[in-house]
Amino acid sequence: MATESNRRFDDLASDYDKPRTIQRAQAVAEAIRNQLDITPTMHALDFGAGTGLISLALRPYLGSIIAVDKSQGMLDELREKIESQGIDGIVPVMCDNFVEEYSGGPLDLIYSVMTMHHIGDVDAVLQAFYRLLKLGGLVAVSDLDAEDGSFHSDTTEVHHHGFNRDQMVDLFENAGFQRIATSTAYTYTKEAADGKVRDFSMLLITAQK
Ligand SMILES: C[S@@+](CC[C@H](N)C(=O)[O-])C[C@H]1O[C@@H](n2cnc3c(N)ncnc32)[C@H](O)[C@@H]1O
Repeated sequence: MATESNRRFDDLASDYDKPRTIQRAQAVAEAIRNQLDITPTMHALDFGAGTGLISLALRPYLGSIIAVDKSQGMLDELREKIESQGIDGIVPVMCDNFVEEYSGGPLDLIYSVMTMHHIGDVDAVLQAFYRLLKLGGLVAVSDLDAEDGSFHSDTTEVHHHGFNRDQMVDLFENAGFQRIATSTAYTYTKEAADGKVRDFSMLLITAQK
């Protein structure tokens, strides 16, 4: 059954790929490639893949990708791209409760972009990432730096107004990760909830199991 948050992204799905979201995804994918040594043999998972903008940008540099999302509408957009463009090696997987339901793996790489602020229990998701990775496996999370709450006009299922970098590092440490590094992935310019155009800084945290 569709939950309220699934419906939110189901409704957004056909309109999600705008020039600014495409540009953001390409920049963040490049930042991930700059920070991590990713190779064409890697089996990767994209958590909160959405319409696949990040995974489509990273596909040429990876062996295969599982694109997990809880919105069927977002995954349908990705599936349409895969079919119409004849893309292989990206498998969309619908998963409502990743922490308890997802059992694939082991994985070489997990990445997640602009999804963590929709997650109540970030700790549990990072622990699931750790469990699913091979020893030496890599993780990359990009999301908003702490913001004043003006990023979203619809706050359905928005659990965090971005993240404080030090607190995020602590969560990665608690999950068991090593070689944790933070950087700025991108500055996203968009109209805020009050109608004013603002810059929103996006963090990138990378680490290794
Ligand atoms: C803002 S979109 C980001 C999509 C893509 N990563 C990008 O950067 O373009 C957030 C995505 O996370 C998904 N999502 C939110 N909570 C989720 C959860 N608990 N499990 C899986 N996907 C989730 C939403 O359905 C949505 O597709």
